[in-house]
Amino acid sequence: MVNQDPIVYLNGEFLPLSQAKVSVLDRGFLFGDGVYEVIPVYGGRPLRLAEHLERLGKSLSDIRMEPPLAAEEWAAIFNSLIQGGHDQQIYLQVTRGVGTRRDHAFPPGIAPTVFAMCTPIAPIPAAGVKAITVQDIRWQWCHIKAITLLANVLQRQQAVEAGCAEAIMVRDGYAIEGAASNLFAVVEGVLLTPPKGTDILPGITRDLVVEIAQANAIPLQERKISLAELNQAEEVWMTSSTREVLPIVELDGRKVGNGEPGPVWVRMNALYQRRKELLRKGL
Ligand code: PDD
Repeated sequence: MVNQDPIVYLNGEFLPLSQAKVSVLDRGFLFGDGVYEVIPVYGGRPLRLAEHLERLGKSLSDIRMEPPLAAEEWAAIFNSLIQGGHDQQIYLQVTRGVGTRRDHAFPPGIAPTVFAMCTPIAPIPAAGVKAITVQDIRWQWCHIKAITLLANVLQRQQAVEAGCAEAIMVRDGYAIEGAASNLFAVVEGVLLTPPKGTDILPGITRDLVVEIAQANAIPLQERKISLAELNQAEEVWMTSSTREVLPIVELDGRKVGNGEPGPVWVRMNALYQRRKELLRKGL
């Protein structure tokens, strides 16, 4: 049974979700002025915690904020929030805090708003999902894990209304990433993923998949994927902390490959699941 009112962390306090309240003058509410992380938890242990906290530090620095907590403090909060051994996700958000009035410029000397909660991860659809391609209408600093997600929200909704699970964003003729995931494609037997830069989020799952491919001699290139290549790809996958490595079996109404998860994905998924198992066992 999912606890409808779990204990969450807000600004130094642990309290039921229903009682966690933030001021309407919070800059996250008024401007989307903040950053976040989503960290998967297997067997009570966060996956790649150090990497997630490192990315959080970069996001904060990019929006000119100091880290509100040290790594050990974050870890202690997460340990208090994680309940049981089932698959869960930690969501954490840091906003610039509560101003005294609505003003775009940073109010001097305010304390950040720090929030964290832990909720179950939804099961992954093993048969794969459908996706659409859309024009990337986001801003130019997509490497920052900002809570300002209006474009991503609109694009994901467009996908859902088309009966799909994800929208793959296309910028200047190249497939970039999903609305909330990174992108991989198998083209002529080679696993491709766009290189890191300011146009994509440097996904922690993406890095793990790259590492696994390299460690297991799966041919891989980090390079741009043109829309034409994506449309011809033998396999297309999306990756994220909550969806793991998920095959896209239909793109814009056409089958990808034979319309089933492909052999490279089957291999990668087995390797990825093994990593999760090792973490569950504390290895
Ligand atoms: N989103 N690209 C975008 C735009 C994302 O929002 C995400 C993750 C990723 C994958 O990153 P990672 O592997 O570190 O989860 C790529 C999270 C899960 C979310 O917004 O819920």
